[in-house]
This record gives sequence, structure tokens and C-alpha cells, in this order.
Amino acid sequence: MRRCGTCVAVVLVGVLASYAQTSGHTIERSKQSTQALASGKRTFESSCAPCHGLNGKGAERAPDIATRSEIVKLSDPATLKLLRDGTPAKGMPSFAELGSARLSDLLNYLRVLQGKGQAPASTANGERGKELFAGKGGCSQCHMVQGTGGFLGPDLSEYGESHSADDIRSAIVSADKRPGVRKGLANVTTKDGRQISGLVRNEDNFSVQLQALDGTFHLLEKSSLSELTFDSAPVMPSDYDSRLSEAELNQLVSYLLSIRKAKR
Ligand code: HEC
Ligand code: HEC
Repeated sequence: MRRCGTCVAVVLVGVLASYAQTSGHTIERSKQSTQALASGKRTFESSCAPCHGLNGKGAERAPDIATRSEIVKLSDPATLKLLRDGTPAKGMPSFAELGSARLSDLLNYLRVLQGKGQAPASTANGERGKELFAGKGGCSQCHMVQGTGGFLGPDLSEYGESHSADDIRSAIVSADKRPGVRKGLANVTTKDGRQISGLVRNEDNFSVQLQALDGTFHLLEKSSLSELTFDSAPVMPSDYDSRLSEAELNQLVSYLLSIRKAKR
């Protein structure tokens, strides 16, 4: 599996690049944001990484603060309070001495590590990701986003809400490594000779409900089937790693993360 440690860096570069591309009237602001993020990164690397690891995913001395959902979902004020106060009794120092400006830069960078800090939805990356989703990536053949798309795969409208950039990326490139049996299409032949391929939506001892590739549902008595087999390959293609470039993967990730933001 290619869960890469460099993703965080790549995402950050993406963020910086999108800020840099922002149009004229916001250039001052984006310069500031870029500097703020760089300052947050420096603080993280010198003050936090020694215990939490460079990617925030935890190390010997301190837990994961990049992907654990109870930490990721803490509000900004709650996280800032935590950084200011620390929990010295449990080994997390207080960082009040950094001052509120550096703490707020640090918080922004922490959000990037948590996959929440991507540039806003309107940025070039997310836009290109959206095109890839419907175009070259073919994702929308199987995945619904906000009411448009296919139904074979799960609806991804809210996926970015609960998943980090790394999670999303690994879901895209390692479909075949995800846990779960029967990821493949089911192929049935009925005793009267009909053949249907589709996804099992429900199954019990006596019956199986399939959603066929054309979207129609079929409730079949098992006793009426002469054959029920499953493809070993998952429905979701597992070669995106080679079909899409690094940049394209990041654009898709930005897009899926951005949907959530657009909704707010
Ligand atoms: C000396 C090691 C150390 C350093 C340096 C450190 N932490 Fe921690 N941090 C910890 C430990 C240990 C915990 C777990 C505390 C606990 O169990 O409540 C923790 C917990 C946390 C938590 C989650 C708190 C919770 O409720 O679990 C956050 C967020 C956090 N640290 C952020 C940071 C940030 C940001 C920095 C840099 C400014 C930082 N830490 C620096 C050791 C450290
Ligand atoms: C041929 C259909 C198909 C295509 C094309 C496809 N997927 Fe999927 N995808 C699926 C199915 C089915 C699953 C559920 C697999 C499982 O649970 O093991 C899935 C799972 C996922 C998941 C994890 C969802 C979850 O709930 O855990 C993500 C994220 C995802 N796909 C993104 C994409 C993206 C991005 C693309 C385009 C680059 C894409 N998929 C293309 C069928 C597809």
C-alpha cells in the first residue's frame, strides 16, 4: 500500500500553489495566508513534531492528532484552548508562550495535516478535480455527488466531511486493498436461464436482492437460482494509481474535501 508520508507535503504544496494562483485583488491576502501557513508549519515542526511526528499521526511520545476523529472534530476555540493549557499531567505541555498569532497559524497548519486546510472550494485544484471526477476519472459513473452520478458506489457528497486527505487518497488508489468480502459484482443465473449482474444490496438465507447495472432491483429466491458467483475483482477500479498522475489524484482529493466546504 502506498500510504505516503509525502502526501502531506504534496497537499501543502498544492495549497501554496493555489493561493499563489489567486487573482490580483486578493494577492496581498494570499501572500499573508501563505506566510501564515509556512509559519504554522515551522512551529509545528519545531514544537509538536518531536512528540506527535512530522505528519501529526503520532509517535512514541504522543498520540495521533491528524486523523483521530475526536481530535479532528474539536472546534477551533477548543483546540486553541487545549494548546494554550496543555495537559501537563499527561505529558502534553502548555504552549501559551507561543502567543495567539503563532497559535492561530499553528492551528491552520494542523487543519492542513488533518486534511481540512485545503484551499477554498473555488480554487483551481478543486475545480480540476471536479472535471476529473466526471471526465477522465470516470468516478461519476458509479458515485453520486449532490444528486448527480451513478449508484454502484457509495454517495460521496459527505465523504470529505469525515475523512482526511490521506484516507480519500488511499480509498481511490487502493480499492482492492480495502477490507470486505464480496466487493465484486454478483453474477446470477436463474433456473429459467436469465442472467443478471449487479451488486448485492440485501441477502438472507432464502433470497438475494440485486441492483443490476442499469439500476433496476431484482429480488430473487435463492431456490430459483442455478448459479450465484462473485467477481473476485472489486467493482471500483484499482488502477487509478497508474491511470492518474500525482497532481490529478491531489485534485480529486481537493474536490472531495471541497464539497463539504461548499455546503457550509
Ligand atoms: C513533549 C511531548 C509533546 C509535545 C512537544 C506536544 N505534545 Fe501534544 N500531546 C502530547 C501527549 C502525551 C498527549 C496526550 C495527552 C493525553 O493523553 O491527554 C498530547 C495530546 C495532544 C492533543 C490532543 C489532546 C487530547 O485530548 O487527546 C493535541 C491536539 C495536541 N497534543 C497538539 C499538540 C500540538 C499542536 C503541539 C505543538 C504545539 C503539541 N501537541 C506538542 C505530547 C506532546
Ligand atoms: C465502476 C464503478 C466505480 C468507479 C468508476 C469508481 N468507484 Fe469508487 N467505489 C465503487 C464502489 C462499488 C465502492 C465501494 C467499495 C467497497 O466498499 O469495497 C467505491 C468506493 C469508493 C470510495 C470509498 C467510499 C467509502 O464509503 O468508503 C471512494 C472515496 C471512492 N470510491 C472514490 C472514487 C473516485 C474518486 C473515483 C474516480 C477516480 C471512483 N471512486 C471510481 C465504485 C466505483
